[in-house]
Amino acid sequence: QNTDDGNSMQHEYQDILVSEVADGVVTITLNRPEAYNALRTQLLSELADVLQQCSDDDSVRAVVVTGNEKVFAAGADIKEMAALDAVGVLNDPRVMHWRRIAQFPKPLVAAVNGFALGGGCELVMHADIVIAGDNAQFGQPEINLGIIPGAGGTQRLIRTVGKSMAMQLVLSGEFISAAQARDFGLVSEVTIPERSLERALELARKIATKPPIAVRQAKEVLLKAYETTLDSGLSLERKAFTLLAATEDRNEGIAAFMEKRKPNFTGK
Ligand code: HXC
Repeated sequence: QNTDDGNSMQHEYQDILVSEVADGVVTITLNRPEAYNALRTQLLSELADVLQQCSDDDSVRAVVVTGNEKVFAAGADIKEMAALDAVGVLNDPRVMHWRRIAQFPKPLVAAVNGFALGGGCELVMHADIVIAGDNAQFGQPEINLGIIPGAGGTQRLIRTVGKSMAMQLVLSGEFISAAQARDFGLVSEVTIPERSLERALELARKIATKPPIAVRQAKEVLLKAYETTLDSGLSLERKAFTLLAATEDRNEGIAAFMEKRKPNFTGK
């Protein structure tokens, strides 16, 4: 329902479902079951728009993204992709949507059941924490279509799972199980499928109670580890650590510990 009472998240979307903010958490459900949640432009653009709104809304402290019980997302929409020539691919607005998703500054937790393939696996790698149902399957099958991953599936994957497994996935197109994905660091926990979303929400709600400036700094500094030297990463960490000493929430956190009470963080 379209409401204009300030809760701008509650638009009508075609390809996703967006929950109200509950305990600081918004849940986004990919919702094109008939196409195995293929990530057509419309879907990616709606996802990027909602994340932008979540970014702007102080009441949102974390976001959970999920699919359905059979599929997280089966990749780029192959039917849509088929219509693009090289210039079409060059000017594809999806590149911009992916960038907007990557720049989301708050914690993004994915709950993955079933297939997470191609762009679906790449979307998983845009999440900060990934909980997988034990029926999840991860893969980069683009090679079967004569292409390669195009939304970070070479670069983020190799940084996440290491060279041999990244090569195996991208060159052979084979899928790996949730347990293998956990062994290789692509996901942090495996649950029964019925529990993956609840566990993701549990983590997101917990993060939502933490001091938001520190959470944001932590995400930024952790992600920098992918692309910087140890020395400059440590320097950035020290700067963020110093910056946090100027926040009220840091004083509150320390005072609450000393006074043996729960902290009341205000985001200042
Ligand atoms: C469009 C898709 C789709 C996709 C599935 N469907 N995946 N439509 N794009 N990526 C549609 C099918 O056409 C079919 O609809 C319905 O979803 C169910 O799919 P089936 O194949 O009938 O189901 P099943 O036999 O269970 O096999 C599931 C599957 C298979 C293993 C996931 O669908 C599959 O291999 N899909 C493609 C996976 C893939 O190659 N992904 C990478 C895409 S390239 P209809 O109406 O036909 O029955 C990519 C590049 C990223 O992601 C680059 C980012 C910039």
